[in-house]
Amino acid sequence: MIKNNDYLILINKVHELAYNYVPHDLKRVSSKYAAENKYLRKKAKKKFEKLCSKAYKKGYRIKAISAYRDYEYQKELFQQYVKEKGSAYALTCSAKPGHSEHQTGLAVDVEGSNNDYNNFIDTKEYIWLKDNAHKYGFILRYPLNKEHITGYKFEPWHYRFVGKAAKKIYKNKLTLEEYLK
Ligand code: DAL
Ligand code: ZN
Repeated sequence: MIKNNDYLILINKVHELAYNYVPHDLKRVSSKYAAENKYLRKKAKKKFEKLCSKAYKKGYRIKAISAYRDYEYQKELFQQYVKEKGSAYALTCSAKPGHSEHQTGLAVDVEGSNNDYNNFIDTKEYIWLKDNAHKYGFILRYPLNKEHITGYKFEPWHYRFVGKAAKKIYKNKLTLEEYLK
């Protein structure tokens, strides 16, 4: 049973969501900070917009390119990866339906000033975000060299709202899995 205020929910290859789980408080991210219609849970949306606003003031351009994804959409995405690259590869970078934290409405993929999330790592936004996101309750969810713990390759663009715990997770260089242990 998912509590509505549970920002520490753990979704990964072993913990899944029901196919019909839809967060109760999804809100649309301001079009200033999103590629198109993107939804996050209310608190995550508010904090994401604050983060983006701060970034903009500093001359950085951060936009959500993917946020809440429902079960069916995740199913299509995963199948597309399998079709294009094979299932072994797909499993390193895409979650099976029910296993994506995008379904929680607490995860967001971002793009910086090169408008290419795949090469987000080359941007000044990446440099700023990795050391500032925790102030807004977000963590880099799939860090480098933690693949054996998270189950996924390094994703410089994928951030997860966890709330207050973000500071401790950042400071101690933890993954959500390690923090919740
Ligand atoms: N890319 C992440 C693991 C997802 O599909 O949720
Ligand atoms: Zn993502």
